[in-house]
Amino acid sequence: MNEAVSKDRLVLVTGAGGFIGGHLVGDLLRDGYTRVRAVDIKPFEEWYQRFPEADNRQLDLRELPACRAAAEDAAAVFNLAADMGGMGFIETHKAACMLSVLISTHMLMAARDAGTERFFYSSSACVYAADKQTDAHVTALKESDAYPAMPEDGYGWEKLFSERLCRHFREDYGLATRVARFHNVYGPEGTWDGGREKAPAAICRKVIEAKASGRHDIEIWGDGAQTRSFMYIDDCLYGTRRLLASDVTEPLNIGSDQLVTINELVSIVEAIAGITLKRHYKLDAPKGVRGRNSDNTLIKEKLGWAPSIRLEDGMEKTYRWIHDQMAARQKGAAE
Ligand code: NAD
Ligand code: GDD
Repeated sequence: MNEAVSKDRLVLVTGAGGFIGGHLVGDLLRDGYTRVRAVDIKPFEEWYQRFPEADNRQLDLRELPACRAAAEDAAAVFNLAADMGGMGFIETHKAACMLSVLISTHMLMAARDAGTERFFYSSSACVYAADKQTDAHVTALKESDAYPAMPEDGYGWEKLFSERLCRHFREDYGLATRVARFHNVYGPEGTWDGGREKAPAAICRKVIEAKASGRHDIEIWGDGAQTRSFMYIDDCLYGTRRLLASDVTEPLNIGSDQLVTINELVSIVEAIAGITLKRHYKLDAPKGVRGRNSDNTLIKEKLGWAPSIRLEDGMEKTYRWIHDQMAARQKGAAE
């Protein structure tokens, strides 16, 4: 793979205590990067993955001095830090989500002043205009569908503003920014309970709980006919690194285009678990848009690649990991 900077240069990953950031730090280290700085606001014991070879730091990146300390000497920055979660979180924490604008702003200023050569920003499919996502049989979203702007309230507005900030830091200050619009990412080592979990992990947890309790029923948010595409973490990491190394300056979808209903997602998990559950639909739960899919025409044209890991395969690995986490937690509680 072409690299954004050579492997002996310092690379900063923010949000490194979280799902994608933790995987990215591991990926860079395994790939021979010798100087990786990993930063997150969470205490070290709460990081999802932590690598002793990295320069691990606990910093609140809403603060400009913390961003300057994080960015010092960094040739490349992957800015993944954000206060975010699935629909259950972003629908009820709009102000908190929007305050991530402080992270975006201060990280860009710090990287500009530190002479950073490449800056990656993780935007989201939540930037897309609401009126283009009202039908479950959605036309896949192409990059130009973000405008005229009417993104997801709170979280989506912050992402769209920060994308725009990246563009103007590139145009006005010469900071080489790259922006990905991630579509719902899932996999092991992610959030699976506590309120920030997204549908793939939540459904795994609920199926495992139902199986263990012998209850044989499951609560699904909405009517189950809403559609999404879900991207496995390995595709996300590969696309992220490819985009940073590329000359693509406009925001790019990094997402799967395997569209499924939430009912189909539940069926996939039931098949993995070897169980069939009675479904209860909670219609007043957070639902988000009716349908969302990624149009991968531009990424194929620009990178000659698009995410391709099948949902059935990624969910198998995710289910096994969540199953083991739940078993370990239960064992810990019993001891
Ligand atoms: P995550 O919540 O697992 O990780 C984000 C990390 O940022 C957390 O560990 C959190 O503690 C950290 N953070 C929050 N505020 C901070 C602060 N003030 N200073 C330092 N660290 C702070 O989320 P993720 O799934 O790994 O997402 C990573 C990025 O990708 C985020 O920017 C997110 O908005 C974006 N994204 C993710 C998805 C997805 O489906 N996972 C989809 C679209 C976009
Ligand atoms: N979280 C969750 N938990 N969602 C459920 C559940 C459940 O138990 N049951 C059904 N759903 C439904 C939700 O109602 C929603 O319609 C759909 O599954 C997807 O929910 P999420 O996975 O929580 O989020 P999303 O796809 O609407 O948005 C996510 O992806 C964006 C990128 O594509 C969010 O995580 C955003 O933060 C992210 O940017």
